[in-house]
Amino acid sequence: MKLFLFLLFLWITVVVGRIDGRHDVFDSSEDSTSSEEMTGRAVNRDSFEDSEGSEGSSEKSEKKGKSCPGEWMSFDRSQGKWCVKVFMSNGNFLSAETLCRSYNSTLTGFQTNDERLKIADVAKQMIQSRGIEVALMWIGARRKSNCPTAGMCFADETFYWTDNFTKVKEAFEFSSGQPDASLNNRHNQNWGHESCLQQMIFASGTTHPKYASFQGQLNDLHCQNPEVQMCACGRRP
Ligand SMILES: *[C@@H]1O[C@H](CO)[C@@H](O)[C@H](O)[C@H]1NC(C)=O
Ligand SMILES: *[C@@H]1O[C@H](CO)[C@@H](O)[C@H](O)[C@H]1NC(C)=O
Repeated sequence: MKLFLFLLFLWITVVVGRIDGRHDVFDSSEDSTSSEEMTGRAVNRDSFEDSEGSEGSSEKSEKKGKSCPGEWMSFDRSQGKWCVKVFMSNGNFLSAETLCRSYNSTLTGFQTNDERLKIADVAKQMIQSRGIEVALMWIGARRKSNCPTAGMCFADETFYWTDNFTKVKEAFEFSSGQPDASLNNRHNQNWGHESCLQQMIFASGTTHPKYASFQGQLNDLHCQNPEVQMCACGRRP
């Protein structure tokens, strides 16, 4: 028994070592290809297909060591690597999810507050460079069906992440008084209660006189609301 355990330990050490080694190789090779791809032409779907195709076939068995496509942020989560990219996207929740899917991704969840703030910071830089003062950003969460109105569930237990990868509720950090499951909307439509989630992005400072919110906090919103400027997509490498 002791011998077996020792051999098992040896095997694990070797395998883990190999995966780590591969991983470094991927990181450096991907970085160089992606920077080549980014020079001269905009990021488009083809460039992702190219980079996926070239590494995908020969290294499929080493999937765990893959790194995120160029220009995607990379987060090392306990359950594996997760890639996130912020896009400008004018429209409702469905149009944002459609955009994410065209990049083989889905609206992302946030596993930690650190992730939530880092992604908000990238969004902030994007609106700064476009001269936009305030933006809302779709993220991947839905109101639980047993929490349809305010006061039925704790704030951080009212929503669930839809990306099938994000776990835990740490990053459900809401603006003051939210989520309020409001029925009201500027369009006076019968949209029901707010059941999607957006993140507040301010171009400067940590808050804004018009909003009872700090940078990067979350707020529930009608999924149908077409006046949302950004979205954050997530995917496995
Ligand atoms: C999405 O995934 C499919 C199937 O793996 C692949 O053929 C396609 O190239 C990918 N598209 C993008 C934009 O990565
Ligand atoms: C998550 O998993 C469910 C059930 O398997 C599936 O219906 C849904 O499409 C998945 N969502 C994403 C974003 O992959």
